[in-house]
Amino acid sequence: MPGLTAAIASIVHVGGFALAAAFGALRLVALRRQDVAATRFADNGNGIAALLLFGGGLWRLFGQLEKPLAFYSANPVFWVKLGAIAAMVGLEVYPQYVVLPWHFRHARKQPIEPRPGQFARMSRCAVLQLPCLVIAVACAALLARGVGLPTTAAPASDLPGRAIYATHCQACHQADGRGLDGKLAADFVGDARVLARPDDALLRSIADGTVGRIGAMPAWRAILSAEQQRQVLAYIRAAFTPSPPR
Ligand code: HEC
Repeated sequence: MPGLTAAIASIVHVGGFALAAAFGALRLVALRRQDVAATRFADNGNGIAALLLFGGGLWRLFGQLEKPLAFYSANPVFWVKLGAIAAMVGLEVYPQYVVLPWHFRHARKQPIEPRPGQFARMSRCAVLQLPCLVIAVACAALLARGVGLPTTAAPASDLPGRAIYATHCQACHQADGRGLDGKLAADFVGDARVLARPDDALLRSIADGTVGRIGAMPAWRAILSAEQQRQVLAYIRAAFTPSPPR
């Protein structure tokens, strides 16, 4: 069940984010109070949060659970999000340099003696991470809504609807989409009114068939899945640009 896998990956990713926010706030307080034990505790929590956040994120990205990899890599918003994450990781270097030895000393039951300035410097790193986190979350929200995608998404020749069109539609609508200048089928190029109609109207015609001035188009719902009907419409929109009649 691919929908379920995608949902689980998403829950892991977002859950990791919630934990990171909670333990991040806790760590800030611990650093302000110069509290070694609380800092270590928050750092452990942040470690688990980071595992979930990165694990879930990479799973979604490379598992291509919801969107193909190209959906992200073609989007500048994605690279801004990645930049913000890289900055957060960079700002984690100093705190880890300080706190990792604390964990080791704690495990060996040795005393932990923070040096002057360490808490203040770690605090500064943690504060600088906040705007990065806000940017990353804002980008995630934009990405989820498809903002930032280039309008020339994929060339028509790469779209899955291309093969469907060639098999089922081309006989009437023709390779140039003009349907023999609108004598045999709707002319997607010469009659700008056809593709000016919204997707749901055109999808209804494709699913149920349509009878009009030119003639009749059979219904496709028994032959093509809803997904295939959307794909072939996407191909038609990408491949044929309406222009005035010749
Ligand atoms: C048997 C010939 C034929 C085939 C095959 C055919 N069509 Fe059509 N199509 C027509 C005709 C005829 C019309 C125009 C009906 C009218 O308005 O008179 C039309 C109209 C359309 C329209 C415009 C509908 C509207 O509401 O304005 C779309 C979109 C369309 N076809 C898509 C497709 C797709 C996608 C396929 C392949 C899956 C396809 N057609 C296959 C004959 C065909």
